[in-house]
Parts: sequence; C-alpha cells; structure tokens
Amino acid sequence: MAELKPNVLAVGVNDWDRRLFDELIPLPDGTSYNAYLIKGSEKTALLDTVDPSKTTELVENLLRAGAEKVDYVISHHAEQDHSGAIPDILMFYPDAKVVTNPKCKDMLIDHLGIEDEKFITVEDGQSLSLGDKTLKFIYTPWVHWPETMATYLAEDKILFPCDFFGSHLASSSLFVDDEPAVYEAAKRYYAEIMMPFRSPIKKNLEKIADLEIDMIAPGHGPVYDRPQFIIDAYKDWVGDNVKNEVVVAYVSMHNSTRKMVEHFTGALIDLGISVKQINLVNVDIGKLAIGLVDAATIVIGSPTVLIGAHPLAAQAAILANVLRPKARFATIIGSYGWGGRMVEQLTGMLSNLKVELIEPVVVKGCPGDEDFAYLDDLAQEILAKHHQAGIAD
Ligand code: FEO
Repeated sequence: MAELKPNVLAVGVNDWDRRLFDELIPLPDGTSYNAYLIKGSEKTALLDTVDPSKTTELVENLLRAGAEKVDYVISHHAEQDHSGAIPDILMFYPDAKVVTNPKCKDMLIDHLGIEDEKFITVEDGQSLSLGDKTLKFIYTPWVHWPETMATYLAEDKILFPCDFFGSHLASSSLFVDDEPAVYEAAKRYYAEIMMPFRSPIKKNLEKIADLEIDMIAPGHGPVYDRPQFIIDAYKDWVGDNVKNEVVVAYVSMHNSTRKMVEHFTGALIDLGISVKQINLVNVDIGKLAIGLVDAATIVIGSPTVLIGAHPLAAQAAILANVLRPKARFATIIGSYGWGGRMVEQLTGMLSNLKVELIEPVVVKGCPGDEDFAYLDDLAQEILAKHHQAGIAD
C-alpha cells in the first residue's frame, strides 16, 4: 500500500470514470475518495471512508494494508463521498467507534442511520492518542458544510483536512507530481465548491497557520508533500485582490449577441484587459467557475428569448450568484427583437454579488456602428472602474 510516512497509509480509491459530482459539477479527470489508515502502537484509526459505490475496494485496501482491527473511524465531513461507506465499515469492524464533532454526528445519524452508541464526539482542539501517534482535531467549519473538521497528526506533521485543499483528480501518484495540473484541478475544485465560503476559509487558514505541516493529505486528489504550494494558492484565491480581467459569458441565437461580444472582447483586449470569453453552449461550467475566481468584472451576454433572458445566460447568472465570486463590477450586453425584460431578469439573478452594476448595452436586432461605439465606451468605462479600484496599472 502507498505509505505517506511509516504506519500512515493511503487506503482510498480512485474513481477514474466519474464525470459528474452532485449531478452538476463536471469531473474531466475523475476524482478520488481518499481515506487514510494510521496504525499507532496501541490503536488504529481510519480517517474517512469512500463513496458507497467504492466500499468493496476500500475493504480490499484495508485488508492489503493489514488492518486486522480498526478502533476509530474519524469522520471529518458527513457528505457521503467520504462517509457513505461508514455503515459497512462498522459492520466489518464491529468494535470500531466513529470519532467526530457533535454536528457531524447528527448529520451522520440523519443521512446514514448510524446508531448513537457508535459515536465518540470530540471538541475543537481535543487530542486522541493511538499510542505513539496523536491525533489532534481542528474544527474547520464551512469548508464547505457546517460540520467540517480536520485532523493533525502531530508526530508526523500531516494535516488531514478532507475537502479543504482537495482536487477532483484521479491519479496513480500518491503525491503531487505535476504542480500546474494539480493547481488547475484544485482551482476548479475551489471555484465550484469552496468559493461561496471565502470568509470562513480565510479564518480556517489562519487557524492552521501555526501548525508545522510536512504534508497535506486531502480527501480528494494527490497528497501535497510541498504543502506551501496549495496554502499559497488558497491565500491568493480567498484574498480580496481581483485581477484586471473580465469574464464574458454569453450565448447567441442569430449572431447579434455574438457580434457584440466579439467586438467588445476585442475592445477590452486593446485596452490591456485580460478577457475570458466563454460561449455557454455545451459549456463545462467548471471553466466558467474558474474564470470567476479572479476576475474584476463579470459580463453576461444574452439574446432575448420571448420576453426574457436566454436560459443558458440565466444559468450562468444563477451560477455566479451562488458561487459569490469577489468580482467588483458586472454588466449585461445583448440584443432583442421586439422588447422584453432580459436585463432586469439577469441583474435580478445577481443579487448575492457585491458588485457595482455598470449600465448595460442592449441592441435592437443586429448591432450597427453606433452600437459598437457604445460597446467601446463600455470597455473604456470598465477600464476606468478598474483604474479607480486600483486593479489596472
Ligand atoms: Fe468531498 Fe463535501 O465532499
């Protein structure tokens, strides 16, 4: 079995074929459900389990790892991709106790029907001795559920934070061997799952700042044996700084909106602003989410369908609204045939965002020279806003 350090083994399972999470989030590289076995001189602990679809593989890995007994199953997070196999593990190891916080205990009872007497609850900062190894539990709420916590293995200086710092990436390598690829996967994971919780994540980063960490062993993706790499990335993503960048997410039915977007994107680029132009037809919404992590301005381009926004533009607006990126400005561009409420609908869908709404540019029918001039003005206005906010040089 893959060993992080002596008697600390990775017993989780890759899911190479999974292509969607929550029936929503694309997984272009599959994922892994990481579980770790820690064999102390007196007690053995299993840190998290796997998605229930992979229970058999987890049990096989535990047997290969020589886990004749498991005394404790540490549950960091009640979501079933980590906890779903706990009931079967408790049948396989009937003397094992589930160690978790009270909130997670309640959720595990609600979701999985685990009996009350199977639990040991721990407080924030409490330790549990395995003999020559000591587990310290650190509450890290809201990454990305309220009950989430981490374990710090003091003697080996390993942090086990479950989803926090994770990446949806199936890999044959135990450790990160391709930092750019893992950075992209971790940023996608942050964008899709963690971004709405920027503030609690900042606090949790401060909470672990004083720990001496040799490795971060997350619940998904490879183990970080150079942990500063992912800690620095998270500090950047959750920080308040935005980049001189505009995300233009659009859909076009008869090319009017497309012509507007292409002209507008060109104008922004001419002004030295980075642009991510994203056609929403058959889009990987992870790409849109990644684009939202750093951008100072969000622009949604939509035609008018009947009297409202195109459903794909509405989906992008709803997604941005739930992910709550740190963008400072937003606007709408698009076209209509005979009227409608496209702009009001889309701006209404962005109500969670703390953005200044810039006056939209909406065109009747196909855009002409005057309309392109309005788009040039809009690009200039965005640059001016970026300057005023200290974002552009
Ligand atoms: Fe990987 Fe929130 O579950």
